[in-house]
Amino acid sequence: MNSSLPVVRDTPGLRSQVAAWRKHGLRVGLVPTMGALHEGHLSLVRTAKEKCHRVIASLFVNPRQFAPHEDFDRYPRDEASDSGLLAGAGCDLLYAPDRAIMYPAGFATNVIVSDVSTPLEGEFRPHFFGGVATVVAKLLLQALPDAAYFGEKDYQQLQVIKRMARDLDIPVEIVGCATVREHDGLAMSSRNAYLSADERRIAARLNHILHDAIKAARSGDAIMEVEAEAARHAAAAGFTSIDYVAIRDAETLQPVNDLAHPARILAAAWLGKTRLIDNMAV
Ligand code: PAF
Repeated sequence: MNSSLPVVRDTPGLRSQVAAWRKHGLRVGLVPTMGALHEGHLSLVRTAKEKCHRVIASLFVNPRQFAPHEDFDRYPRDEASDSGLLAGAGCDLLYAPDRAIMYPAGFATNVIVSDVSTPLEGEFRPHFFGGVATVVAKLLLQALPDAAYFGEKDYQQLQVIKRMARDLDIPVEIVGCATVREHDGLAMSSRNAYLSADERRIAARLNHILHDAIKAARSGDAIMEVEAEAARHAAAAGFTSIDYVAIRDAETLQPVNDLAHPARILAAAWLGKTRLIDNMAV
């Protein structure tokens, strides 16, 4: 096990390492992260390592994807611990740029992906996908890996990134990886660390509520009724506010009336000050 992970903090350093690997014909994978790593991130690294000779993880808490009232300041940061975890999962290089590298003075570009960014998260966090698409475009162009790995936990984010890479002809394969869950079904998330013991217990219900909704939709119940019933169950379970429970087209995230095409159920709900999201194939 590699216990100390090399780190680069600027684009020339990153590119010269990738170029050296390429010279030897090695396939390179990138796992973009904001740190606060958990098993979900590490499984992305392991998947990348199965498919690529070398794996880079990036660590950058991207200010542009947080609204002023959100948790940018209190977002957990511990590079030393993240670096050790990445090394243990088989990562070969940590790319940890600071804000001035990613957004130097005068930075004026914002990548907006229309349509797929608009509903759901786009409605409740209008700043979010612009920030994500901008930083991911930069990371992909800085590293130019063969493939980049993202969790399906942030399902809409994954669709936005796929659309962006396709539209901008960024020559990187975008790979979605299955959500990693706790033993009780709660989707792993860096934000789970904010939950009190009571909230943590309630949080696990979301997964079960979505499973029940899928069963109801598959058995022919009307989509709108299934969504409303799932939201009622979430409120009854103790979620303090429900932003949405929605069954949508699996690629475009637009509303559907039936399950004729692949669909996804997605939910966002609050427990006190913590916002949780989850989703599953219907
Ligand atoms: O999913 C995340 O952790 C972030 O949104 C990402 C993709 C690393 C961009 O900052």
